Amino acid sequence: MKFKTVFVCQKCGYEAAKWAGKCPDCGEWNSLQEEVKQQESKKEKKNRSFTDFSSEIVKLADSKAVQEPRIPTQIGEFDRLLGGGLVAGQLTLLAGAPGIGKSTLMLQVADALAQTRKVLYISGEESISQISGRAQRLGVKNPNIYLHCETNIQNIITAVENEKPDVLILDSIQTVYHPEFTSSAGTIGQVRECAAELVRLCKPKGIITFVLGHVTKDGELAGPKILEHMVDSVLYFDTEKDNVLRLLRPHKNRFGSTSEIGLFKMTGHGLESVDNASEYFAQTSSSAALKGRAYTLALEGSRPLLTEVQALASPTHYPFPRRVATGVDLNRCLMLFAALEKHVGLSLDNKDIYISIAGGVKMKDPALDLAICAAVISSVKDVAIPHDWLFLAEVGILGQIAKVPLIDRRLEEAQRLGFKTAFAAPVSKSEKQKLTGIVLKEITEINELALKLK
Ligand SMILES: Nc1ncnc2c1ncn2[C@@H]1O[C@H](COP(=O)(O)OP(=O)(O)OP(=O)(O)O)[C@@H](O)[C@H]1O
Ligand SMILES: [Mg+2]
Ligand SMILES: [Zn+2]
Repeated sequence: MKFKTVFVCQKCGYEAAKWAGKCPDCGEWNSLQEEVKQQESKKEKKNRSFTDFSSEIVKLADSKAVQEPRIPTQIGEFDRLLGGGLVAGQLTLLAGAPGIGKSTLMLQVADALAQTRKVLYISGEESISQISGRAQRLGVKNPNIYLHCETNIQNIITAVENEKPDVLILDSIQTVYHPEFTSSAGTIGQVRECAAELVRLCKPKGIITFVLGHVTKDGELAGPKILEHMVDSVLYFDTEKDNVLRLLRPHKNRFGSTSEIGLFKMTGHGLESVDNASEYFAQTSSSAALKGRAYTLALEGSRPLLTEVQALASPTHYPFPRRVATGVDLNRCLMLFAALEKHVGLSLDNKDIYISIAGGVKMKDPALDLAICAAVISSVKDVAIPHDWLFLAEVGILGQIAKVPLIDRRLEEAQRLGFKTAFAAPVSKSEKQKLTGIVLKEITEINELALKLK
């Protein structure tokens, strides 16, 4: 077997013969690392296919689909975001910042699945006693869970072949290594090879597999993007660690939608499903009228979440005013600020503006637009918004108000939560007839909202 030295981008997996300061492929600086690679013979290459799928050519019309039965975990929020449960042979990547609760969730999932299945939990990060300490705290003591501390992928394969588990959990992919590769654990080459071994091992056997992964400071998976292509589902913890609330978001799911989210609360006994999400957010807020606070019902998946948008506009001391957004896209906010300057005549160039979504969650729903605008207007004009007002619309760069999807669902939820007034784009007659306890103020331009906030 021959070896050669290559330089591999740790972000995208690009291989170069020479070192360079910047990756020619993805443009990342300082990401090329020296790795030793084997030159494979043709025979060896043959064994390197991902899956064993190889079939005759058939007509799609003649092919038969097998409806995969779902295996629910009975952890409400986890099943919801997986689209009803797991599928045999499903390979899931669970990623998140350090300490966010990956190992905790996995132990709980292991407990749930171990009611009827054999679970092998392999850890390369923690000792048996550490894991059993956590298990004790979480009240997990199912006899069907087997623990194993190992980082060598070949020993892991042997363990799986001997133990024949139905569920395999690997904590984490960055700690395992392939002994045939000399680069250290966690490098792109190692991560890719080990993941490929897992796919080859678990897919044909129908083993439900979870692979845990770390993310970098900017929230990207540490290691190759290619990992995301190899697995069936990718779940990310999408909240800040200091928050009690943990939001789990699917970035990819071969067996279901990716628009559902799972909401959990971190407690001493582990992660608890938050079923009444809207009320959870509502509880955290006071009923006083506050300057710079506006509510909206953002839709995450099929579920409306009460969201509190906070804005603070303060005089700037810099030549360039500061713009900070947490929980929402900054570029979206910049666009809304520009629209407010142009169409409402707010002067923002001498103000720093901070936008924040209460609760530390990240939101993408365009229905946030109007609430962001309302919060900014409220802070700039120094007028408070009553706590039972709600803002539900998308705002365009021309200052026009646009209707958001599923407005009836949102208004229904708003009524249930006790909101009295909702600002939105005009709705149809039938949608209006359903409203009982809430007054709908239909607006078509952002300026109309500004006139109401005085
Ligand atoms: N006694 C406790 N009471 C409440 N919460 C706790 C307790 N001990 C740990 N936690 C919570 O569990 C979190 C750690 O969970 P866990 O070890 O599952 O995270 P992780 O994502 O696996 O981290 P890592 O990346 O380090 O492996 C802590 O950040 C803390 O929020
Ligand atoms: Mg862990
Ligand atoms: Zn690159």
